Amino acid sequence: MWLKRLLLCICSALKLTVPSHTIHGIAGQPLHLPVDYNFNATASEIQIIWLFERPQSNPKYLLGSVNQTVVPDLEYQHKFTLIPPNASLMISPLHISDEGNYIVKVNVRGNGTIAASQKIQVAVDVPVTKPIVHTEPSSGVVEYVGNITLKCTVGKGTRVVYQWMKNGKPLHDSPNYTFSSNNATLLIVPVAKEDIGNYSCLVSNPVSAMESEIIAPTIYYGPYGLRVKSDKGLNIGAVFTVDMGEVILFDCSADSNPPNTYSWSQRADNTTHVIKYGPHLEVVSDKVAQKTIDYMCRAFNNVTGKRDETHFTVVVTSVGLEKLAQKGKSLSSLAVITGISLFLILAMAFLFIWKRYQPHKDQGLITGRHRHFQVMLMKET
Ligand SMILES: *[C@@H]1O[C@H](CO)[C@@H](O)[C@H](O)[C@H]1NC(C)=O
Ligand SMILES: *[C@@H]1O[C@H](CO)[C@@H](O)[C@H](O)[C@H]1NC(C)=O
Ligand SMILES: *[C@@H]1O[C@H](CO)[C@@H](O)[C@H](O)[C@H]1NC(C)=O
Ligand SMILES: *[C@@H]1O[C@H](CO)[C@@H](O)[C@H](O)[C@H]1NC(C)=O
Ligand SMILES: *[C@@H]1O[C@H](CO)[C@@H](O)[C@H](O)[C@H]1NC(C)=O
Ligand SMILES: *[C@@H]1O[C@H](CO)[C@@H](O)[C@H](O)[C@H]1NC(C)=O
Ligand SMILES: *[C@@H]1O[C@H](CO)[C@@H](O)[C@H](O)[C@H]1NC(C)=O
Ligand SMILES: *[C@@H]1O[C@H](CO)[C@@H](O)[C@H](O)[C@H]1NC(C)=O
Ligand SMILES: *[C@@H]1O[C@H](CO)[C@@H](O)[C@H](O)[C@H]1NC(C)=O
Ligand SMILES: *[C@@H]1O[C@H](CO)[C@@H](O)[C@H](O)[C@H]1NC(C)=O
Repeated sequence: MWLKRLLLCICSALKLTVPSHTIHGIAGQPLHLPVDYNFNATASEIQIIWLFERPQSNPKYLLGSVNQTVVPDLEYQHKFTLIPPNASLMISPLHISDEGNYIVKVNVRGNGTIAASQKIQVAVDVPVTKPIVHTEPSSGVVEYVGNITLKCTVGKGTRVVYQWMKNGKPLHDSPNYTFSSNNATLLIVPVAKEDIGNYSCLVSNPVSAMESEIIAPTIYYGPYGLRVKSDKGLNIGAVFTVDMGEVILFDCSADSNPPNTYSWSQRADNTTHVIKYGPHLEVVSDKVAQKTIDYMCRAFNNVTGKRDETHFTVVVTSVGLEKLAQKGKSLSSLAVITGISLFLILAMAFLFIWKRYQPHKDQGLITGRHRHFQVMLMKET
């Protein structure tokens, strides 16, 4: 009981604090282990002791002080600095082998002796250097055929953590990605067009971070989304209507890497023949004998070996004639409708009269279909 009270009293009488119990140091640079203490008793002597301990080894005495007098271990006297009454320890220069636990103990003698101690874990790291990314293959890969391996190597650095970035963002997990156990290597299989992007490797450790130059792997794909556009002329679906005498320019395009080679074919008299190579085709309609010509644009990617083709029809119309013809057509159809309507009205009137004069036979409703049937019959007779 009294011991407990005494311990409490000691704790409250001498307070030894460290801002952090874990400190990351950089190899080759000085490291400061800050320690603060205060007490509210009158002290006749203040003692500060620093010890160093590595896992599975005995603690080593580094240095100590009584009042203003520092007593270093002669072996380390140039490495550690203590300026009492400040209990902070300076390590300079920090070496990888300085990694371990540093224990500070402060004893204050006054009306009895009060003591306190703290432990600081020091990790020492070598900063990472700028990583380099190697791509395999270095040339380029065909979509869904090849695979890409990205290897990140870093010259210097301890406890390196690798992170792959795509277009500046951390790479999301995908079934198509395989990482090595430490993430230094990224394998993409199968490779797809979606894998095109700016890749980089971000390496880091507790004391530093560095990003590689951007790598943009070459991925061959396509052709995709083949389509034909014209500079003018009406088009509905794959049918382009063009006025006689007009010059119409067609443009064939498809997404592909490397760029496609394009060929244009014309179908005439049951045979198809290539009329032009390249993405553009000019059709001068007045030179065309027929009114309707079938064309085809074919895109070919000579690396992926894939091709796509699209068919379209050019209808050449003579403006005046066509409009007249259309007018005539609409006129005749109007006449037909009027004729039929007139005939139906007459037929129904006749039917009505006939029904009236029929002596009470079939008083029920006549459905539309029946009526139609009867009308048809009459039409025939
Ligand atoms: C010392 O500090 C503790 C708590 O901080 C307090 O309880 C105690 O009264 C103080 N003693 C003196 C002599 O100030
Ligand atoms: C330490 O300093 C205190 C006063 O600051 C003094 O009374 C005491 O004698 C000193 N002790 C030693 C060992 O120098
Ligand atoms: C102890 O010394 C360090 C510099 O070595 C300083 O930053 C710190 O403020 C000092 N602490 C006290 C309590 O004076
Ligand atoms: C020293 O301790 C005694 C008993 O432990 C106490 O009576 C006395 O007040 C203390 N003196 C100081 C200065 O703390
Ligand atoms: C990746 O491609 C290489 C040849 O380009 C091949 O030897 C290897 O087996 C492929 N790896 C996988 C996982 O497909
Ligand atoms: C990749 O980087 C290049 C310049 O280095 C930039 O022009 C391009 O837009 C970037 N691509 C993406 C998808 O961010
Ligand atoms: C992974 O590959 C499959 C084809 O095997 C593809 O459909 C899918 O889009 C790819 N996923 C990503 C995220 O690239
Ligand atoms: C590798 O990266 C993944 C996320 O991309 C992460 O979850 C994993 O912890 C990393 N592994 C290592 C050893 O860094
Ligand atoms: C068109 O070709 C088909 C077979 O390719 C053939 O059967 C047909 O007779 C040909 N028609 C004309 C008009 O040449
Ligand atoms: C493949 O097509 C590209 C682009 O059209 C062209 O530059 C290249 O010469 C072609 N390669 C071969 C082997 O035909």
